[in-house]
Amino acid sequence: MPRRIRVGVVGVGGIGDVAHLPNYAKQKDVEITAICDVDEKRLVEMAEKYQVPNVYTDYRKMMELDELDGVSVCTPNSLHGPVSIAAFKAGKHVCCEKPLAMTAREAEKMLAAAEANNCLFMVGFTMRFNSVSQAVKKLIDKGALGEIYYAKAGILRQRGIPGFGGWFTTASMAKGGALIDIGVHVLDLALWLMGSPEPVAASGQTWAKFGPRMSKGERVPGMEKIGWPPGFTLGKSRTFDVDDMASGLVRFRGDAALHLEASWCANVIDQGGGVELFGTKGGVKLSPGGTATVIRESKGALVTEEIKPAGGGYDWEMQHFVQCIRTGKQPLATAEQGLRVMKILDAVYKSAARGKEVAIR
Ligand SMILES: NC(=O)c1ccc[n+]([C@@H]2O[C@H](COP(=O)([O-])OP(=O)(O)OC[C@H]3O[C@@H](n4cnc5c(N)ncnc54)[C@H](O)[C@@H]3O)[C@@H](O)[C@H]2O)c1
Repeated sequence: MPRRIRVGVVGVGGIGDVAHLPNYAKQKDVEITAICDVDEKRLVEMAEKYQVPNVYTDYRKMMELDELDGVSVCTPNSLHGPVSIAAFKAGKHVCCEKPLAMTAREAEKMLAAAEANNCLFMVGFTMRFNSVSQAVKKLIDKGALGEIYYAKAGILRQRGIPGFGGWFTTASMAKGGALIDIGVHVLDLALWLMGSPEPVAASGQTWAKFGPRMSKGERVPGMEKIGWPPGFTLGKSRTFDVDDMASGLVRFRGDAALHLEASWCANVIDQGGGVELFGTKGGVKLSPGGTATVIRESKGALVTEEIKPAGGGYDWEMQHFVQCIRTGKQPLATAEQGLRVMKILDAVYKSAARGKEVAIR
């Protein structure tokens, strides 16, 4: 019989309840032993919903639970570092939500703590955990697209600023806006599919053209129709000191490059986005949560094929983390890769602030 794995979740807000808790609860031989949140009402509600025996408002206390094997970190970004490091010091494995940290420097400290305590460290890069992404990865690893020299990674929302006036739009808790919040997903997916090339430089620009208007109390047209969340109203705080759109170009060792764009709010026609890869023998376009279209050379002709979705998502992600704890296997989304993503994000933000390309080491 497989060993029972005992997990805890720190931060039981949106993603805790949508992804981590339900997908641990579904698994046989997995027990949600503890949860932690500073919002006591939410804590009680989630403890009842998932039948959790131990509740905490202080994550440091939760880490004292001997029986805990692994911890999901689902807090605002500014707490990913402190919570993960506390977990590692207590010998717990960690699945940390994206972005891995506020900065690459902080991510390095997290990695060092994981290593020093011999713990697994996985990043919640959800977009890798579905059948389409995995089929495309297999195709690329077989060499079917040849050498991939260019990628486009984008995720564009017309109106979709999460939690206006809350932690998402506050730099001290989120670090940045659209780029670090949703750009991070497609950036990671593209890097992984490209075989984790080494970035050497990035340049970029960021904007905040809509959030500040709403901070001043102005109604931005369209927000009421497709607001985020629907029926959006301004909260008590009107803080918005992050980007609502960003664009960047990343250069890798050799001649490969990647164009990145992300928006929470923009007057864009084609919303959505995804990842598009250009190879010497073929190319592919993946839409988030959808299909992939592949074009490639085959027997002297250029053929097109569709890869249709066949499952995956948060359920595969949480199963994978438990499986890694059980077997000691290296996770599919490693913290080293999460650190590389952070280096690129840092460089795009720095480049936007300095107005010139920034080297990545
Ligand atoms: N992988 C994905 O698809 C995905 C989707 C959404 C969010 N996320 C990431 O998940 C994280 C959480 O996002 P969310 O949307 O769930 O936010 P949220 O605000 O809905 O939930 C965060 C929770 O953390 C709690 N919290 C705050 N300080 C705490 C502390 N000191 N100790 C314990 N709990 C604390 C809050 O009370 C809240 O309940 C973010 O890093 C975000 O980027 C990932």
